[in-house]
Amino acid sequence: MKILGSIQETRNLVKEWKAQGLSVALVPTMGYLHEGHKSLMERARKENDKVVVSIFVNPMQFGPNEDLEAYPRDLNRDAKICEAAGVDLIFHPEVSEMYGPDFHGFVDMTVLPEKLCGASRPVHFKGVQTVVTKLFHIIPAQRAYFGQKDAQQLAIIRRMVIDLDFDIEIIGCPIIREEDGLAKSSRNTYLSEEERRQAVILNESLNDAMCAIEAGEKDAAKVKEIITAKLNTCPLAKIDYVEVVSFDNIQPIEKVEGAVLIAIAVYIGTTRLIDNRIIM
Ligand code: PAF
Repeated sequence: MKILGSIQETRNLVKEWKAQGLSVALVPTMGYLHEGHKSLMERARKENDKVVVSIFVNPMQFGPNEDLEAYPRDLNRDAKICEAAGVDLIFHPEVSEMYGPDFHGFVDMTVLPEKLCGASRPVHFKGVQTVVTKLFHIIPAQRAYFGQKDAQQLAIIRRMVIDLDFDIEIIGCPIIREEDGLAKSSRNTYLSEEERRQAVILNESLNDAMCAIEAGEKDAAKVKEIITAKLNTCPLAKIDYVEVVSFDNIQPIEKVEGAVLIAIAVYIGTTRLIDNRIIM
């Protein structure tokens, strides 16, 4: 397995593979890899000849008061996980390699990024779209793998690929959970023991919503009430948002029908966690 920090060297190697007729997969990450990332790498490994993992904590997607400095980083640990998953190349650039001093080339779509996480993290999706665009140009893979935990991110990237004619297939992969149901996230490492215990409320509140929907509830407002009521039973939980939207355009809906995203963001102590259910 190679680890490269240079855009040019990475692009050259990927082009070489493609010239040999090999299929290439990209798994974009910010590192501190967990089982969720591992599941993306394993799927990419099965479906492609070569697998590239990018590890880059992208400053552009963090707001001024967010956790850019505190975000966990450990390349040695990540490299071992990648090696075990059969990854061929880690692309690990410095910030200066990705963003030169005169950088002005932002990618920013309207509508999809405005709601949910975009409402409380106004610069986030502009940063995600910009860095993912750059990664798609640097690593011209046939397929890119993203987790469904970041469902709005997945919807935005799918839209971006269609609207901007990227020649890449976007593959969404299921959320990987801890045994008690908490969705795996690099940010779970911020939780104290008691916060970690209470964080399970996110998954439980979504389970309650799904039970109601399976029993015939179609009213999106009622579904939101069920989730909110459950979250409010948890002393350490502070709701950022509870939303029921169309998965296609991330706009609020009144009835649970068609492709629906039920998405929540909740502070457990000072750590903001997200979770969701996608109904197709
Ligand atoms: O999901 C993430 O880890 C990041 O948002 C991504 C897609 C790697 C872009 O920095």
